[in-house]
Amino acid sequence: MKLSIGVLVSGRGSNLESILTAVRKGEIKSSRVSVVISNRPEARALKIAERQGVPAVAIDDSGMNSEEHCEMVKAALSSHGVKPGTGLILLAGYMKILPKSFVDSYAGRIMNIHPSLLPSFPGKEAQRQALEHGVKVSGCTVHFVVPEVDAGPIIIQRAVQVLEGDDEPSLSARILKQEHKIYPRAVALFASGRLRIRGRRVQVLP
Ligand code: GRF
Repeated sequence: MKLSIGVLVSGRGSNLESILTAVRKGEIKSSRVSVVISNRPEARALKIAERQGVPAVAIDDSGMNSEEHCEMVKAALSSHGVKPGTGLILLAGYMKILPKSFVDSYAGRIMNIHPSLLPSFPGKEAQRQALEHGVKVSGCTVHFVVPEVDAGPIIIQRAVQVLEGDDEPSLSARILKQEHKIYPRAVALFASGRLRIRGRRVQVLP
């Protein structure tokens, strides 16, 4: 049976695009992106999904509390076959924090991509935080999601040099290129059953 993937998005959708491409090319095996869900109806990511024939669902969160919204997201995932225990959820620029009950029900089956070398610079505007701190190397991280923000077991990281004269857009663009490589790679490893979570560490099986 194919792995059913649900992607949660809020905006541009370039990471979503890299995942869709990798599935199409067979780099992510035995998997399908079953649904893309956005809390923002105007998200470009929804258009990308539609163009590729993937069900795209907007669940507008304005005027709704987080629990209520999350229940709707959960129902949409489930009705598209992304079920706890068998499905995989990818956060790809999803700007909402998932409640603990949701994370627990999909334990070990939710991934996120973050534009820094965690645990440095969690939260918003990671690239700006890195520049303001004056680091010489930053990068990106794919990790499993736990209830604490950007804190789960790390699957893959890629370092990116900070150059003299870098500003937020230039650094973000170089990091994004690497994001588009490591996120599909992490999903491919998961889909082939090669990831094992052991406490804080993720083992990659041969
Ligand atoms: C990426 O930089 C990702 O690391 C962060 O949000 C951004 C999403 O970009 N979590 P996109 O929507 O995938 O283009």
